[in-house]
Amino acid sequence: MRAIITGLGHYSPEEKLTNKDLEKLVDTNDEWIRVRTGIAERSILDKAKGTSYMALRAARMIFEQSAVSPEEIELIILATITPDMPVPSAASVIQKELGAHRCWGFDLNGGCTGFVYALATASQFIETGRYKNALVIGADKMSCIINYEDRNTCVIFGDGAGAVLLEQSTESDRGIIDFDLHLDGIGIEYLNVLGGGSLHPATMDTVQQKMHYVYQDGKTVFKYAVKGMCSVSEEVLKRNGLSGKDLNYLIPHQANLRIIDAVAKKLRLTPEQVIINIEKYGNTTAATIPLAMSEAHQQHKFKKDDWVLLSAFGAGFTWGSVLLKWAI
Ligand code: COA
Repeated sequence: MRAIITGLGHYSPEEKLTNKDLEKLVDTNDEWIRVRTGIAERSILDKAKGTSYMALRAARMIFEQSAVSPEEIELIILATITPDMPVPSAASVIQKELGAHRCWGFDLNGGCTGFVYALATASQFIETGRYKNALVIGADKMSCIINYEDRNTCVIFGDGAGAVLLEQSTESDRGIIDFDLHLDGIGIEYLNVLGGGSLHPATMDTVQQKMHYVYQDGKTVFKYAVKGMCSVSEEVLKRNGLSGKDLNYLIPHQANLRIIDAVAKKLRLTPEQVIINIEKYGNTTAATIPLAMSEAHQQHKFKKDDWVLLSAFGAGFTWGSVLLKWAI
């Protein structure tokens, strides 16, 4: 039994925050941002809306085209670091709004690797025969935890969502073929949001100290990200008897164009083999991979039997890869 992707959807808010807009907020410039990150603009969600709004839009795009209806969904996993509220999960909001009456589900915090973690997790429920399908979503409203006075972070992140429908298939040679996942708490000090949890509950003091915003030591994260994404990608390819030249597409987490280029170079990939959309969206955290995958699918990039490798790195540190043989 294999888990195969049978439907894809994505959503990006219409409001754009361009590099020129950021020049008015912090001491930065369009050229620096483009050269150092590859980003030109990002989408920003309406202040009054939560992450579930984007996740729902991405999910509904799937159901508009799928033979499976929300009532038939058995499991919802939402990868996010920005749920609508601490309790209950944003997966609850999605279940209610979709009318997915037969499912259970939860939010998963794997930082920027969240979608890769979620896809691997859902695949196991399907491969064991326990469930016939699962809705796997990556969505983040990063604009709600970004300090728009901090040029180290505000130029990088944006809001967005992507989703896939996973279904059971008896064809053994297509679908999710393998994955490799990692976690190392060495990353806690380099990339975090310290306020608002049980250790530092929200108080006037935590807010004044801006502890509810993302802190990042960009240089250190950059180095670990390149190392982690390269090693996990090579490991998954190697143990499946593949190398970079066998890959049809790499869909990397979109954190920085220079990180993507370094991974592509290590795997000896041509530009045509790498899906990149960071210029338009920035880093949408758990959403980057499903958003890029859904967009590329919409552009008819993938063919049946294509080898597709997903690779991500994020807060924790977390990192991981999923190897897919395209099934639709
Ligand atoms: N605009 C203009 N200058 C900026 C700037 C900005 N937005 N941000 C930093 N700078 C300045 C720095 O102050 C520094 O100046 P100095 O040399 O006078 O001290 C210089 O640019 C270089 O800064 P540095 O931090 O070394 O830049 P960098 O090349 O490492 O790029 C990041 C910074 C954040 C873009 C990069 O480190 C990165 O992408 N890191 C990983 C991000 C990531 O993957 N995060 C998500 C987890 S997956």
